[in-house]
Amino acid sequence: MCGIVGYVGRTTAVQPLLKGLKKLEYRGYDSAGIAVVEPHLQVYKTQGRIADLEALFTKGVPQGTLGIGHTRWATHGQPSWENAHPHCDCSEEIAVVHNGIIENYLELRKELEAEGHVFRSETDTEVVSHLVEKYYEGDLGCAVQAAIAQLIGSYALAVVSSRHPNELIAVRQDSPLVIGVGEEEYILASDVPALLDFTRTAWVLDDGQVARITRESVVVFDQHGEQQKPQTIRINWDPVQAEKEGYAHFMLKEIHEQPRAIRQTLAGRLGVRGNLQLAEEIPADLLHGITDVHLIACGTAYHAALYGAYLLQDSTDLQVHAELASEYRYKRVRVDDRTLAIAISQSGETADTLGAIRKAKAAGARILAITNVVGSTLAREADAVMYTHAGPEIAVASTKAYTAQLCCLGLLAAYVQLHLRGAYDPELLRQLLEIPDQMASILQACEERVKEYAGQRLAAASDTFYLGRGLDLASAMEGQLKLKEIAYVHAEALPAGELKHGTLALIEPGVPIVALATQPHLLDKLLSNLREVKARNGEVFLIAMDGERDYSQTADEVLLVPPTHPMLAPLLTALPMQLMAYYAATARGHDVDKPRNLAKSVTVE
Ligand code: M6R
Repeated sequence: MCGIVGYVGRTTAVQPLLKGLKKLEYRGYDSAGIAVVEPHLQVYKTQGRIADLEALFTKGVPQGTLGIGHTRWATHGQPSWENAHPHCDCSEEIAVVHNGIIENYLELRKELEAEGHVFRSETDTEVVSHLVEKYYEGDLGCAVQAAIAQLIGSYALAVVSSRHPNELIAVRQDSPLVIGVGEEEYILASDVPALLDFTRTAWVLDDGQVARITRESVVVFDQHGEQQKPQTIRINWDPVQAEKEGYAHFMLKEIHEQPRAIRQTLAGRLGVRGNLQLAEEIPADLLHGITDVHLIACGTAYHAALYGAYLLQDSTDLQVHAELASEYRYKRVRVDDRTLAIAISQSGETADTLGAIRKAKAAGARILAITNVVGSTLAREADAVMYTHAGPEIAVASTKAYTAQLCCLGLLAAYVQLHLRGAYDPELLRQLLEIPDQMASILQACEERVKEYAGQRLAAASDTFYLGRGLDLASAMEGQLKLKEIAYVHAEALPAGELKHGTLALIEPGVPIVALATQPHLLDKLLSNLREVKARNGEVFLIAMDGERDYSQTADEVLLVPPTHPMLAPLLTALPMQLMAYYAATARGHDVDKPRNLAKSVTVE
């Protein structure tokens, strides 16, 4: 999820572009660049900060009044000068910046190369500049329209050409783009903060719309070439609110981004008919002959590892272990060249996880990384990488990166099963495609209720318990970590069947218990454990999936998540638990995005 800016107007474009890019820095990025038409196309890029980009203009600023700019968060190809945007066509007359993922870029690239186009980067974006070049017949807008007809995926694009020194073309599909309206000038941006120094009036593009922006006017067309009236908005957010898209905290914004993040995680990997496309990322020799799998991680990523271990154990005959990296490093483990070590890390920089995979690698294991950060140390040291594509995660508490890790592990489990057994559970993959919409419906349906419960009950508690059985236990562990981490309320996750072996002694009237009930084969057992809790007047908030059951004897409150494959339920139950932690923390007045004593990336042992 990169940042886009574009400018056409009365003044030289470089300053408004740099100003806009600076406003997008908070999102995180690894490289940046701008292109200005003056009258030839001038491209400036850097693998580094906006300040480094700015330094390229110390000897003079091009005077062109049309340009585009970009901050890149790498998805395809390492962070590098070559992979930084803008990307040009062969003649270097057309420049493109892009946010999103072009799923069919490899096919398109092969076709274009066969036609003689020369590529200079590893990005998916570059196919767009060559497609626009291919279809250009004197009208830039028409060429962009013809190019996007070839694309599968999500995109916000801004395109300029030295042949059209007063025209900026913008288009969006599943990736936001707004046009700020000034006095004889327009500024285009992927995010509202980049507009605020210029204007408070903006036009929002809808999916499939193409905008032809000149100094004098903006004309918007739909995919059939029909002219459209853009939707005008008045922006009342202050700059700090705008960075968070109006949410009070990055954590809340990131919780709400999960439907989009999971769509991005699935993009290009799972076709609409449930067909898996992972061979590019996970070469066959990575899996060939493996007998053992070690899933290694810390914190939230370790809870994803528990999930992955459960899925792999359930669907293969491999010996599978989820391992805490800080323990794995120093204990005696059986690891050799038949071991696949799967390291899971949002940042890809966690010292313990890196230490653990170095140990596994030295003993001959093959390393697969699941990470959110392209070019991170973990990604570079692994034999293969599966990127989560969740977009930058700014809040310390991991939310969208976690569910994207679960999504990757679901895909991976099916892929390993296919590789080892020649078949996989098609229902799991079919249901995975439904998860983004189901997440959106949960967020819409449950937020107010969860807010009330968390604000009144969890925020006032000193001890809480999270219960689950089977796969629900891994989810319960993640739920309790979130609450401790940001609300500073003590929480403990337990296999529900273990209560009676000791912890039941702590259950007394009013103690809040969050219980998970999504695993049909364990439901009766779980409900009988909850009866033990209710007999001690513990207060149960149950997150369940089966709407037909009667929970009146076992829970004080019931929140139903939409029905899905039981193996995918953790992708849904995570959301109400994230909201519970968030609203308990805000009710207690905490700085949610920066919890005490914690850092986003733990690069020390
Ligand atoms: O970047 P990583 O995924 O390797 O980080 C691992 C943990 O430090 C991290 O998940 C931590 O537990 C989160 N703050 C939890 O929300």
